[in-house]
Amino acid sequence: MTDRFPGAINIEPIRDAHVESFHKALDTVSRERRYLTLLEAPPLDNVRTFVRGMIASGHPQYVALNDDEVIGWCDIRRSERPSHAHRGTLGMGIVDGYRDCGLGRRLITATLDAARAIGLRRVELDVHANNSRAIALYEKVGFQREGLARDAIFIDGRYIDSIGMALIFE
Ligand SMILES: CC(C)(COP(=O)(O)OP(=O)(O)OC[C@H]1O[C@@H](n2cnc3c(N)ncnc32)[C@H](O)[C@@H]1OP(=O)(O)O)[C@@H](O)C(=O)NCCC(=O)NCCS
Repeated sequence: MTDRFPGAINIEPIRDAHVESFHKALDTVSRERRYLTLLEAPPLDNVRTFVRGMIASGHPQYVALNDDEVIGWCDIRRSERPSHAHRGTLGMGIVDGYRDCGLGRRLITATLDAARAIGLRRVELDVHANNSRAIALYEKVGFQREGLARDAIFIDGRYIDSIGMALIFE
């Protein structure tokens, strides 16, 4: 499905060398003001600290690469609190122009496999209730809806509901 792009899109664990390109991808998707709660990426140094922490802790973070350019990401942050250490929070995004051709499924599958391998029991996320494409992907890989937070998001003068979803590794 990805052959509409020149060259193969690889899905790989993130490395330090990807940080600047990941920051750019995160910023680009955030600035769409439509899908993420972030409206712009945090400063590059904060993103670098975050990524280095994910790598050092062995928390799953994968990127989709077109040559060396990050065009998508998926990460699962494990909770630090001991009583919640079996839980991780998933975030993901794909740059416009690379969507709807199977990359989301490839990215989330690789990241969930890694989460299972490190012993997580529960992966959770929040998604804008009007993001039907993301909700469809999450349900296809096993997430279930757990609740609705009404008017949880406020962007450009509009309130949006947020759906809490989770997947349990049996
Ligand atoms: C949401 C997102 C990650 C999905 O990735 P994607 O590469 O576009 O999606 P895929 O091509 O992998 O499609 C996933 C599946 O959902 C299906 N799907 C896509 N849109 C759908 C829709 N509106 N309704 C029902 N199913 C849909 C696809 O057919 C596919 O199913 P299949 O694997 O059985 O063929 C991506 O579109 C994206 O990053 N969007 C913007 C940012 C965002 O929404 N991030 C998530 C915030 S919670």
